[in-house]
Amino acid sequence: MHRALVDALARDLAAASFTSGGVLALVGADADAALTRMVAQPARRAALRQPGPLATLLRAFWLGDAVTVQEMADALPALGVDGAVALGIAEHRGESVMPLVAIRPYAYRDALGAGEWWIASDLDELAGVWPLRPDHVLGVGGAARTLAALLPPVAAASALDLGTGCGVIALHLRRVAQRVVATDISERALRFTELTALLNGVDGIETRLGSLFEPVAGERFELIASNPPFVITPRAEGVPAYEYRDGGAAGDALMAAVVAGLHGHLAPDGHARLLGNWETLAGAAGLERMRGWCDGLDAWAIERDSLDPVRYAELWLRDGGTIPRDTEHDGLMDAWLDDFDARGVTAVGMGWLALHRPGAGGGVSLSRFERLGQAVQLEHAGAHLAGAFGDAAWLATLDDEALKREHLLTAEDVTEARHQLPGAAGPNVIELRQGGALARTLSVDTALAALVGACDGELSIGQLIGAIASLLEVDERILAADLLPRVRELVLTGFLRAVSD
Ligand SMILES: C[S@@+](CC[C@H](N)C(=O)[O-])C[C@H]1O[C@@H](n2cnc3c(N)ncnc32)[C@H](O)[C@@H]1O
Repeated sequence: MHRALVDALARDLAAASFTSGGVLALVGADADAALTRMVAQPARRAALRQPGPLATLLRAFWLGDAVTVQEMADALPALGVDGAVALGIAEHRGESVMPLVAIRPYAYRDALGAGEWWIASDLDELAGVWPLRPDHVLGVGGAARTLAALLPPVAAASALDLGTGCGVIALHLRRVAQRVVATDISERALRFTELTALLNGVDGIETRLGSLFEPVAGERFELIASNPPFVITPRAEGVPAYEYRDGGAAGDALMAAVVAGLHGHLAPDGHARLLGNWETLAGAAGLERMRGWCDGLDAWAIERDSLDPVRYAELWLRDGGTIPRDTEHDGLMDAWLDDFDARGVTAVGMGWLALHRPGAGGGVSLSRFERLGQAVQLEHAGAHLAGAFGDAAWLATLDDEALKREHLLTAEDVTEARHQLPGAAGPNVIELRQGGALARTLSVDTALAALVGACDGELSIGQLIGAIASLLEVDERILAADLLPRVRELVLTGFLRAVSD
């Protein structure tokens, strides 16, 4: 990649204010929001009404429109039209210049703060490209944003992004890791990752071609992230295969292979974060099957949704652009449902997998596989999950007597809601609610509500249980046996924390 040309491009993009804020100011909030829904025309109309370098860059590299040679020359004064052609991001078409790639500003906020990058990828349906090519390289989508938010905000010497695509996760990893290896089976994806990294002046990202863990044989990483091609796809003639979503395996075998590879590639005390889909086969729930894959690692799997086979097939047929009135729809639906029938699949779970390799000499202290459907403020998720592995290891060192000696604090984002039937003497339902972490709402009884309400670090858990037992006139040992497991759960889920945290 020609560094001088990429530097010139970056200067031009910056000079034109080709940023999320710049585009928002140009097209207005409604048209900007429409872009996230893959609707281009409102932004195009606004750009055409206000010609200039920013409008040209938006039309060309976001919406995929041809622009005049003069417009492109004005928008890229440092790079020039010839430079854009030499870089492979545009080509001449008669009197016009046609963009060949998408370059879009991407604003993010993670635990380390806010920032913005330009992300290079293939032009897509927003840019009128349809159907997508089988080796289409995705831009930043909802899945990448989710994975970015799940990353642990902990410093790492080395990180791996498996299936890097346009490289957005590799850029996020580089914020905490000294060096990043970004792999893909797609040579084109690696070129986009290199362009994206250079464009943003980010060094320390090494690209490697190959399937799954082949390119990193024998290497271990402190941090591994992957938004793998997890879409369960029938291996049947005539079913389109897209590299970006389908890893070519049967069922969820690709997912299992990624998790299996983590055992040999995570450094001690290393973390991995994955997105994925997992099948429930007759009699074996998807989350429980995954528990088997994760043996030997600390694991927290969170199933955000579960679809029956028909809805799953509909989702991915639609993603591939096939809708019920299309001629090929019924044949493809047959292929998907035959595939699910053959394996006895009754549901497909979709969600997040956070894994941690215990440090030297340590054993597994967290093995949690749960369904969690509520809306979550993603910006809190990464730090919360990372902290939970430490909390689980800490809790594992405490027997109940030791836990009683601990002083805990109620987390700052916890509120209590009491619901009472009209005329009732006391609350019928008490709920604890989190603003951060994973935004849980927990129904609790009076004793646990009293304990959480009193956790200001002053008294130990044992002293609090003693006081509550005498207040409620119940046996202290029975109350302790009831409350202590729930105190552990509240620490793990972020309602309570150690004074020293
Ligand atoms: C869902 S995309 C994720 C891209 C990017 N990391 C993101 O989050 O937007 C999956 C990526 O995995 C790549 N891929 C497909 N099969 C692979 C394999 N067997 N080994 C490594 N990467 C693979 C695809 O080319 C694609 O870039």
